[in-house]
Amino acid sequence: PRCELQAQTGLSRLHRTDFATAAQAVSNTEQTAVSDAKESFSLIQEKRHDQAERSVLINCPPNTNKKKFLAYISKHGDIRNHFFYETYGIYAVVEFSSRDSISSLKENCTIPSLQHEASVPFKSRLLTLSSTATGKKQTGPNAIKCHNLTPPSFDKLINQLSKQETVDQQMQCLTEACQLTEENISLRFLVCSLLRDIAAAYFPDCIIRPFGSTVNSFGKLGCDLDMFLDLDAVSGHDQSKGSGLSLEYQVKRGASERNVTQSILSVIGECVDVFSPGCVGVQKILNARCPLVRFSHQPSSFRCDLTANNRVAMKSSEMLFIYGSLDERLRFLVFTIRYWARAHGITNSFPGAWITNFSLTMLVVFFLQQRTPALLPTLNQLRDLAGPSDKCVIEGNDCTMVTDLSKITLQQNTDTLEKLLQEFFEFYGSFDFGKSSINIRKGREQNKPETSAMHIQNPFETDLNVSRNVNSSQLQRFVTLCKESAWIFQNGDVLKRRSASSSNKIPQWGVAALLMPSVTKSVEAREKRKRRKNERTAERIMSVLQSLKSPAEAGSGSE
Ligand code: GTP
Ligand code: MG
Repeated sequence: PRCELQAQTGLSRLHRTDFATAAQAVSNTEQTAVSDAKESFSLIQEKRHDQAERSVLINCPPNTNKKKFLAYISKHGDIRNHFFYETYGIYAVVEFSSRDSISSLKENCTIPSLQHEASVPFKSRLLTLSSTATGKKQTGPNAIKCHNLTPPSFDKLINQLSKQETVDQQMQCLTEACQLTEENISLRFLVCSLLRDIAAAYFPDCIIRPFGSTVNSFGKLGCDLDMFLDLDAVSGHDQSKGSGLSLEYQVKRGASERNVTQSILSVIGECVDVFSPGCVGVQKILNARCPLVRFSHQPSSFRCDLTANNRVAMKSSEMLFIYGSLDERLRFLVFTIRYWARAHGITNSFPGAWITNFSLTMLVVFFLQQRTPALLPTLNQLRDLAGPSDKCVIEGNDCTMVTDLSKITLQQNTDTLEKLLQEFFEFYGSFDFGKSSINIRKGREQNKPETSAMHIQNPFETDLNVSRNVNSSQLQRFVTLCKESAWIFQNGDVLKRRSASSSNKIPQWGVAALLMPSVTKSVEAREKRKRRKNERTAERIMSVLQSLKSPAEAGSGSE
């Protein structure tokens, strides 16, 4: 091997920031330009896609000697990056410098001969290393070190948070501990690329692209893998120049776009089920608003949703990525609020009437647009800054946004994370969800156009409501929890850092305390006591009033 994977992990990507000081350090101008050093969303996606196409996934026995393994694999070509992880067994992701190396490697692979079963001879890039060596797990420098794909346990995170010095540091620490790592994202792109090999049997130019939290910079370790089958490159180009003649493909026709999408997904889903090693529990959910094929990819443990014809969702992912790149406070807030919501059962990984992570993120973006001065621009402002090459209309929806972030100037806002978190809870604890709709395109509240409990306008398909699934009791739970958390900020001393007591147990404070069910439980209990006290007072007043009434009046009241 020429080099080890020098992937930037989440830890190295982030640096601890004191926002007030950082903003003051910027010159006294009221606005700051966004650095142009950032790569565009599409360029990042292309690079990752290309890396994945040059990669293989290999299941290794536990006694694998790393040095020997890499030497064996690199006979087929230069290894650019590699890493190991453990799920159902140990796996290696190996990225070659050239795609040709994969052909060479595959020529040396055999189809296993099974004793009591038969194998489907599909030659994928998911391989198994067999070794004649016997022995125990390697130790020392040639032992395999596995990269972690899962988030820290709740207790471990709470412990880490309690050791921080400030709430701002806690929010940054939570983000660092939970966000997707470079390795995890690479593996996600590799899973997409492995699936593409199946779909490419029918559509050689197709691409399977990840979207949602894998690419929008808000992905948490353990989140699902949303993908869509992109057939855009498959459609032909107009070749009628010169001769006046042209050829077109004869094609099958479907009753509607949706119908065609369902048929394609049905066939690809079948192939994934029958041909694709590692894909289990394939379910075709073709009658959903957005038809999809759902399955588990066992070697990576990813829960996968494959859709088709879903370009608008990709634009939503790009929009969130752009917002996340503009001010890092957005990501710290979103990670903290998503974790807080999950810890208190406001969000749930099963579909239902819960608020989704996507809706929560939109709530945070909107809140930051409302600050004075605004911390984030509106979506219309991002559209107005777009150049001619940014123009994008999908199915009649204007999805144009600026992609060159250096064109964006931000207002100088020095709010700390602690202040923003507190005011987020206050803002949504008293937001008039009954009347108003959240509109991040205009960056202001609008009158609700329909009767759903919660209305967040879909940023690109503006007639749709992103939170249509949320019912009034789930909304109420969210609002109550916001009120309680705001109350804790205002009154409690739980936000004050405390040092370890004599028992050496670190007290939970700040964000760690906000995540504990006991905190809201104690608030609930206090509220209940207050309500009970008020009720008792009301009862006493009532009985005094009753005793003042004449006996005849008092009697008629009870009939
Ligand atoms: P996780 O909960 O971490 O998976 O977040 P996510 O952003 O990936 O959300 P999810 O898997 O539910 O959805 C994937 C993507 O689909 C989102 O990022 C959005 O781009 C899009 N999406 C999800 N829900 C909605 C919705 O209600 N309306 C619209 N228009 N798009 C949605
Ligand atoms: Mg997702």
